[in-house]
Amino acid sequence: MPDPLIAAALAARLNAFAPYSKFLVGAAIEDTGGRIHTGCNVENATYGLTLCAERVAVFKAISEGVRQFRRVAVAADTENLTPPCGACRQILWEFCGDVELVLVNLHGKTETYQLKDLFPKPFDVSYL
Ligand code: THU
Repeated sequence: MPDPLIAAALAARLNAFAPYSKFLVGAAIEDTGGRIHTGCNVENATYGLTLCAERVAVFKAISEGVRQFRRVAVAADTENLTPPCGACRQILWEFCGDVELVLVNLHGKTETYQLKDLFPKPFDVSYL
């Protein structure tokens, strides 16, 4: 049976606003209530103001009052599956902790990681 989180990430990817890079990314985050929040990358003519799909998905969920998450999926059209960038790893750590992360491409190839393995020794509130 298809994983609805993966399906949501793939669908969100189609909304990507990526006229500059042409690199479309979708993300989906499942909260502990089972609800799925999606995001896509949103680029800007300044380039530097671009937001990645993962951060859009997290910020959408946070802005709706959701605070606990179970899983994240990231979808891109690459044979070598696309992982979250460093900035997104930091944001995911802040809000999702050591969450399960599923990477997927358009051919259904998947890899599953724990965030702590992709983001060892994070800076977080424990240092403040
Ligand atoms: N991008 C994401 O949205 N998520 C990732 O995990 C990697 C990169 C976006 C940012 C930019 O719009 C495009 O992909 C190329 O870097």
